[in-house]
Amino acid sequence: MAKLLFVCLGNICRSPMAEFVMKSVTNQHHIESRATSSWEHSNPIHAGTQAIFKKYQIPYDSHKSSQQISTSDFETFDYIIAMDDQNLRDLKKMAPSPFKDKIVSFANQPIPDPWYTGDFEQTYQLISQGCHDWQERLVN
Ligand code: 4NP
Repeated sequence: MAKLLFVCLGNICRSPMAEFVMKSVTNQHHIESRATSSWEHSNPIHAGTQAIFKKYQIPYDSHKSSQQISTSDFETFDYIIAMDDQNLRDLKKMAPSPFKDKIVSFANQPIPDPWYTGDFEQTYQLISQGCHDWQERLVN
């Protein structure tokens, strides 16, 4: 069992989407999500991401709230998965040096931020594909 941590800027749009989509794809791993920033601290999952969960019947925790990544998270998780290139750069700067190698990109392309694009469907399609790819990667 691997411990996976999905990370985006606010932890209200993309990384919680990846968290609960991945939980719907596999029950073999420990999966959580965090923010690089504290901007949305304690705020709920964005209504646009919740609408995607409902549309695709993906179970999720409606009480989950935004949490910034902590030093202990870098130690605890096996894979710290950045949703875009800025998240990747920020995480590399934030991580204590022994843990920098745990930081990887979610996919070959950055996942567009629906906070700016407004397109939660496009983000969902990329996250769904990416989560299936991760599942393949972890079983092989
Ligand atoms: P996320 O989207 O990183 O996918 O959760 C954002 C959420 C909030 C903000 C930016 C991006 N914000 O500026 O507060």
